[in-house]
Amino acid sequence: MEKRAFIKSYGCQMNVYDATRMADQLRASGYDVVDEQEGADLVLLNTCHIREKAAEKVYSELGRLKGAVGAAGAPVMIGVAGCVAQAEGEEIIRRQPRVDFVVGPQAYHHLPDLIAKAGAGAKPVATELDEDKFEHLARPSRRAVTARGVTAFLTVQEGCDKFCSFCVVPYTRGAEVSRPVAEVMEEAVQLVDAGVREITLLGQNVNAYHGGDGKGGTASLADLVGRLAALDGLARIRFTTSHPNDMGEDLIAAHRDEPKLMPYLHLPVQAGSDRILKAMNRKHTAGSYAALIARIRDARPDLALSGDFIVGFPGETDADFEATMALVEEVKYASAYSFKYSPRPGTPAAGREDQVPADVASERLQRLQALLTAQQKEFNLGLVGRRVPVLIEKPGRREGQVVGRSPYLQPVHIPASAGAVGDMVEVDITAAEGNSLFGEVAPERSAAA
Ligand code: 5AD
Ligand code: SF4
Repeated sequence: MEKRAFIKSYGCQMNVYDATRMADQLRASGYDVVDEQEGADLVLLNTCHIREKAAEKVYSELGRLKGAVGAAGAPVMIGVAGCVAQAEGEEIIRRQPRVDFVVGPQAYHHLPDLIAKAGAGAKPVATELDEDKFEHLARPSRRAVTARGVTAFLTVQEGCDKFCSFCVVPYTRGAEVSRPVAEVMEEAVQLVDAGVREITLLGQNVNAYHGGDGKGGTASLADLVGRLAALDGLARIRFTTSHPNDMGEDLIAAHRDEPKLMPYLHLPVQAGSDRILKAMNRKHTAGSYAALIARIRDARPDLALSGDFIVGFPGETDADFEATMALVEEVKYASAYSFKYSPRPGTPAAGREDQVPADVASERLQRLQALLTAQQKEFNLGLVGRRVPVLIEKPGRREGQVVGRSPYLQPVHIPASAGAVGDMVEVDITAAEGNSLFGEVAPERSAAA
């Protein structure tokens, strides 16, 4: 009988992408990749190390998995992948001896080999950062791509050289590396051929992309967007996550000139106090960020802006926090993620003695989240009464409904008669609720259909 593997992913979109590539890798070594742990012979936890809670979750999940058995009654093979694997390596096996192998995010092309060694009783750990895994990874079958749906992630850049003082990414994902243009295009063409209509380009600093163009030069992210836009079947292009200091003029212009590039930008600022931004080693100020946003909005006035915020960074005073609130009031976000500062081992800020008390950070987080939620609601309500193109992604939770996304990334619930998965339909937005929009198919469209 074919062995079954289950991958459980935590954390960011890059982990979601890595999980798809690991699944392809496992299929190529004869595994059936399943959606639930029940009956799986191999369980692979694809972990996240960005905040303390994320890492702790992994150990409690491992505790729960300890006694699990596979289809044939044998103990499941347990692998730990992702950023906790990279950061902790062998320590994971010391802390939880039931773990059979550990594989970092730049080494998962070794999966078949690691599984073979683990099966023979060794406890291999692969955390090298120096090889280009993409050169060795199994390609997805057309069927696997189609099964994943009409939207896809595509990693084009990995790692980070910025060293924000709170962040583990430069240590877990290594130095900034861009994939060559030809390699990215090949993968994109394969996705589009299998029916993918929207691609989100991924990178920890995706707008710092500078992939080799095969002629001795490099291409910027804007160049890459231009090349992707030329693919006929591809309707939408997105990218995430960006750093304010890498927002090139050509990328700003692409938001004006390239209709396939969606008017949504995730551009984290982290804090609104220049003193804190300096301590975070962000190398920009609140003012330069706000000015940048104004320039991007000049190019694309309807841009939906998203961001990340950290409250309670060491040394953050009430006045510093008020500066964050003021920046949010000024800039206005369509969506955002906000977090309490979490000291990460090995990062410069973790050793500071002026840590902010937990209750102060919690209170600040609550206030910031209330403001951001109100702004999100305002943005969503602003779409009621407007007509927007919606890419239908999947059946809805309710019978008779399908769900797609607006250009601004909100889920839009529409009657199933509107069209099939993969169709782009014009929708009149009738209501906004929480993070979702509801709409009717525009009359001209249904008359024509
Ligand atoms: N504590 C809290 N939030 C963090 N982030 C990164 N590191 C930390 C940390 N140590 C947040 C940042 C980043 C997002 C992915 O996670 O806001 O943009
Ligand atoms: Fe982390 Fe800063 Fe790099 Fe983003 S830019 S991954 S927050 S170090």
